[in-house]
Amino acid sequence: MKIMSLLWTKSFLFLLSIPCLCSSQPLPPPLRFSAFLDHSNMIFLRWDHDAEEMMTFELRVHTTGWVAFGFSPHGELPGSDIVVGGVFPNGSIYFSSYQFPNEAAISIGTPMDPQYIRLEIHYSNFDLIPGLNDNSGIRLYYTPDLRPNDMGVLQTGVFTFPVHFIPPGADTYKSYGLCKSSQFNEMNGTPVPDLKVFGFLLHTHLAGRGLKVVQYRNGEQVRIICEDNKYDFSLQETRDLKEVITIKVGDEILVECNFQTLDRTEITFGGPSTLNEMCLAFLFYYPRNNISSCMGYPDIQQIAYALGQEASDAMEGMIAMNYVEWNNETIKNAEKAAKEADQIVMIKTIDELQKNESGIIRDITISESGLCHDISGHLGVRGSQVTANLQGAAAVISQALSTAEILPLPLLLLTQLAFTWLLTSSQCRI
Ligand SMILES: *[C@@H]1O[C@H](CO)[C@@H](O)[C@H](O)[C@H]1NC(C)=O
Ligand SMILES: *[C@@H]1O[C@H](CO)[C@@H](O)[C@H](O)[C@H]1NC(C)=O
Ligand SMILES: *[C@@H]1O[C@H](CO)[C@@H](O)[C@H](O)[C@H]1NC(C)=O
Ligand SMILES: *[C@@H]1O[C@H](CO)[C@@H](O)[C@H](O)[C@H]1NC(C)=O
Repeated sequence: MKIMSLLWTKSFLFLLSIPCLCSSQPLPPPLRFSAFLDHSNMIFLRWDHDAEEMMTFELRVHTTGWVAFGFSPHGELPGSDIVVGGVFPNGSIYFSSYQFPNEAAISIGTPMDPQYIRLEIHYSNFDLIPGLNDNSGIRLYYTPDLRPNDMGVLQTGVFTFPVHFIPPGADTYKSYGLCKSSQFNEMNGTPVPDLKVFGFLLHTHLAGRGLKVVQYRNGEQVRIICEDNKYDFSLQETRDLKEVITIKVGDEILVECNFQTLDRTEITFGGPSTLNEMCLAFLFYYPRNNISSCMGYPDIQQIAYALGQEASDAMEGMIAMNYVEWNNETIKNAEKAAKEADQIVMIKTIDELQKNESGIIRDITISESGLCHDISGHLGVRGSQVTANLQGAAAVISQALSTAEILPLPLLLLTQLAFTWLLTSSQCRI
């Protein structure tokens, strides 16, 4: 088990590897909360906070490698094995993985529910490293104690097939997928209750650098529901919205994805492979309705035409993209043409009923406070507003052994930190 040794605060990077046994440290106060962070019970965290917003952590890890504690203004710690936890806007903290809110949960066992669950794992071993073993798994818990609402998931974004493409050599290239919900009632069979959205999961593949999910009503932007401007493929997780938001029938949901393909010489097409791309946002909401997905894609013939190509149907439009000489000018032209082209919106229900309609991509207004959404709902504070003031000692009990062979026992690393966390996230409002 290896944990990266990064501690981020506003602008400092601390490496926690002080190899001393500081027996003169005063005894820490008893910490009220604790959890094993992994299934093998190797990583044990205890924590507590007092009325003055002082938080104390104690991390015990059985390891022969690095142990560290990380704080990230963006909810990311590249290369780390685990994300430890965060602070909600109201000041309460968590150290577990994602949990649905108390008002809602997934229903199973009724005819309306999925009849089976399929676990799909994608393996990418680009360097063909031999001898890798996988120990992934899932654990399902269920209960007869039902919560007030059944939750649903609405898939939005760019329809992956057949016409999602990203030019090669792009520093930044934005794709747009529109959802129009005006036919939701008709497709649902009964009027769709307002969607109370509490969480989201953003998804692109390796070229994705950022996503935004924007809500419009009557042609006006209501809000940026969520965004991640430092998207990291290896840190995909369901995140809380800072507050439950309402989507009404008739609203539009736009997903904007930002891609970078500087390392690619060929067009990247939409598709399921990690080397293909996707641009999706899964919205977690209650109460559940029958709509399962609502995704858009641009009219590829219009894009081909704007790039000086000819195409009599979508397939020819896609093929025509291969004849475009890609440079930064044609990349910008393609991005603009794809944004201005009519969007075809495809809506599906859980019974695979399908309808299409058309729409346009509206502009996205970035309000200043929109910056607050740069981070996940888990970390409801802005980087510049987080002050981690290391007060206590960072003590690591470790034996400085350089090779694994001479280790008789797993090292016990104990890191204790005390710091002050200033919460000012209430300034972040749309
Ligand atoms: C703080 O907010 C979180 C997330 O919304 C919630 O789960 C928690 O109960 C709240 N805590 C308090 C003390 O209100
Ligand atoms: C889903 O559709 C069925 C009809 O096919 C309808 O009876 C049911 O009420 C709908 N469910 C919801 C949650 O609207
Ligand atoms: C676009 O410009 C960037 C520098 O900003 C460059 O690295 C890249 O190669 C250019 N792309 C193409 C396709 O010429
Ligand atoms: C919607 O569009 C897709 C893709 O163009 C097409 O395959 C499908 O038949 C259309 N569905 C309806 C109901 O028009």
